Amino acid sequence: TLTPRPSNLSREQFVSQYGDIYEHSPWVAEIAWDQGLSEKEDTPSGLAEVLGAVLNAAGPERQLEVIRAHPDLAGKAAIAGELTDDSTREQAGAGLDQCSPEELARFERLNQAYKDQFGFPFVIAVKGKDRYDILEAFKTRLKNSADEERRTAIEQINQIARFRLQGRVER
Ligand code: GUN
Repeated sequence: TLTPRPSNLSREQFVSQYGDIYEHSPWVAEIAWDQGLSEKEDTPSGLAEVLGAVLNAAGPERQLEVIRAHPDLAGKAAIAGELTDDSTREQAGAGLDQCSPEELARFERLNQAYKDQFGFPFVIAVKGKDRYDILEAFKTRLKNSADEERRTAIEQINQIARFRLQGRVER
């Protein structure tokens, strides 16, 4: 069970506890609360389902805003220590804080190539992946269409949210 239990919270409390599950996008939590939360949503997977449904139901432009709210992997903000706590943990968990200067340069080139191609940053749920898996994923995903990549990024963001919620059980 999530602590505090989502179904017990006022709108303000819910958004203050869970508004950061989607990077810089508290409106996802706001809409979920407005739709009404039940005890089913007191588990990480239950809440992940309804939050994910809100994002899936949003228009492409709002989806793109959420994608664009994500920092580059091993990018300038990460190097400068300017990430959210969750993002810092996720990037470090994938070993991205251990990149050599050459690896950082590779990430910079791929981040830029991806943004040039699609107009939004490369987002991938990095839990359980290492920097080599991530570099591989860049190469595969650069071959997709912009529409496919928007949908893939949204799926990945919903997966990131699921992992973040699982991490809120014990904390
Ligand atoms: N995957 C997990 N966290 C992040 C993040 O902060 N940025 C990007 N681009 N992908 C992620």
